Formats: sequence, structure tokens, C-alpha cells
Amino acid sequence: MSFRLQPAAPSRPNRCQLFGPGSRPAIFEKMAASAADVINLDLEDSVAPSDKDSARANVIAAISDVEWGDKTLSVRINGLDTPYWYRDVVDLLEQAGERLDQIMIPKVGCGADIYAVDALVTAIETAKGRSKRIDFEVIIESAAGIAHVEEIAAASPRMAAMSLGAADFAASMGMQTTGIGGTQANYYMLHEGQKHWSDPWHWAQTAIVAACRTHGVLPVDGPFGDFSDDEGFRAQARRSATLGMVGKWAIHPKQIAIANEVFTPSDEQVAEAREILAAMEAAKAKGEGATVYKGRLVDIASIKQAEVIVRQSELIAG
Ligand code: COA
Ligand code: MG
Repeated sequence: MSFRLQPAAPSRPNRCQLFGPGSRPAIFEKMAASAADVINLDLEDSVAPSDKDSARANVIAAISDVEWGDKTLSVRINGLDTPYWYRDVVDLLEQAGERLDQIMIPKVGCGADIYAVDALVTAIETAKGRSKRIDFEVIIESAAGIAHVEEIAAASPRMAAMSLGAADFAASMGMQTTGIGGTQANYYMLHEGQKHWSDPWHWAQTAIVAACRTHGVLPVDGPFGDFSDDEGFRAQARRSATLGMVGKWAIHPKQIAIANEVFTPSDEQVAEAREILAAMEAAKAKGEGATVYKGRLVDIASIKQAEVIVRQSELIAG
């Protein structure tokens, strides 16, 4: 066991991150009025190259003009392999108001990518006397990104959240897929003539969760493209929650309620967690480190599992 404590991730709800193109300012007020915990105004892949400058201007104006309530407000900048990203950072940091909480860096491939953006952001924050530190969130969506996931999570004290971007990830890995996340028809085991589908995103998700939990960063599941498939979205979100992720993107407003439901521990889950804590308190009073709850073993580790659920529920309620 390492003597180092596992650092806590930022203490704020992140059940749903709602995206909208920076080139579509007509939806900004609707995004602000939504039930999403995080708003991501996009300057990257939902904005056509010809609209990059106007989208940037729209987003900078909206940061101050729209009433964003208590949401975490984030802007996705363009990738470091484009000619746009430095202007995104310079204009956002020089011109956008203090309401901006985060910038999202897409397609990160190594810790040095974060260092480069950090250097620029730090210089502008100091030069402009910005009083609020801008946090970073990143998307792991390339072979290099997943190969260097831990150094990326550790790359800056600004690191707050990390998402899996299934579509770009699949393309970079050379995966034979077209859908954005979810079940892939050809990824199955055959047993006695029956197909059993497996989860092609599982390895990348657990690698992200482990890197995030090691370094105090929130792990988040990215987009699910088929917004007509509520049950497919729900199944993907439930798998992600089970693996330790705290939330999921919505690329259409109808996905928000499902994400909020899945990533909020249910009343039954919280009641059971509290019962386990009470059973362990009673065991402790008798000098026991383990006891029986509903016919199964619970011990000191069960306290930690139960506390994850209770803490998450209190964070959301608070
Ligand atoms: N945020 C808030 N409101 C949104 C929205 C969003 N991302 N997308 C659509 N809406 C609104 C529409 O304006 C419409 O509002 P109305 O009922 O007042 O007219 C309502 O939700 C229903 O929209 P709908 O007609 O079903 O969708 P659309 O055709 O207008 O847009 C998309 C569909 C997918 C193009 C759009 O949702 C979108 O741009 N999503 C985000 C894409 C993105 O940011 N990608 C980058 C990350 S992967
Ligand atoms: Mg992408």
C-alpha cells in the first residue's frame, strides 16, 4: 500500500456535460436553462472551419451575457494539431469574463500537451490579473492519449476532469466501427451457438478511471451519438457509473435526464449503503471488524464502498 493518500477529485456534481456548437448561439439560453451540471460550449469539431472566428466571438460574449446559474462553465478549444487553438486560448483568457470555469483540451496525447496550454494560460492570467484560476478538462480520444493517460492526469494542478471520446478514439485505434460509443455488433463471444456481447470501451474506461483516481481528477464518459436510443444511452451510462465514472456527456437535451438519473445514487442504493454503515458501527461496538448484512459478509472495505455512494449522494443534494 502506498503511503500517499489518494487525492480527492473536485467536489462538485458532474453528472451531465451538455455540449452545444459555439456557432449556434440560439441554443445557449436553452443550455443554461437545462438540468446539466456542466456546460461545454464547443469551438472544435461541431464548428465548421469557416465559422471558427465567429463561434469564438459568440462564446466569449455568451460567457458574460448569459446567466449560467451554478453550472460549471467550460469551453472546448481546438486541438493542438490545428491552427486555431492558440487564438482560442488567447482570446478566451484575454476577453472572456471571470465566469468561465474551465477549458476543455481535446485530443491530448501526452503530458507536454497540457504543459504547453498551461504555460500560455498562466502567462495570460498573470498579465491580465485574472483572479480566478481556469481549470482544465481533457478528452482521451487517441491511441497516444490512452497510452499516456496517467502522465496526462498528473500533468497540471489545473487538471479537473477527463473524458473518453469514443469516436475519435475508435478512429485513432483503427477500430472497425462507425457508431459513437455503445454496443458494437461485431464485438461478441460465441458460446454454444449463442452470441454474448462484450464492451469494447471497457479497457479505455478503466484506464481513465484509474489514472483519474490516482491524481484527483473526475473521470467522465463522453458522447453517445444515437440520441434516439434512450435505452442504449442508459445501458452505457450504467456501465460507466459501475466502473467509477461520475457522469456522461449529452449531445442532445433528451440525454440530460437519463444521465442525471443514472449518476445520482438511487434512494435504494443510499438506504442500503447507510444500513451497511450502521451494521459496521454495531460490529465495531462489539469489537468486530466484520459482520453479516442480509446474509453476506461486510467488513472494513464495505465501509469505504458504502461511503462512496453516501458521499456522492450528499454532494449532489448539497
Ligand atoms: N443544447 C440545448 N438545446 C438544444 C441542443 C443542445 N445541444 N440541441 C438542440 N437543442 C434544442 C433545439 O433548439 C430544440 O429546441 P426547441 O424545442 O425550443 O425548438 C430542441 O432542443 C429539440 O432539438 P432537435 O430538433 O431534436 O435537435 P436539432 O436538430 O436542433 O439539433 C443536434 C440536433 C444533434 C445537431 C444538436 O443537438 C447539437 O448540435 N448537439 C451538440 C453537438 C455538439 O456539440 N457536438 C460536440 C460534442 S460531440
Ligand atoms: Mg473528438
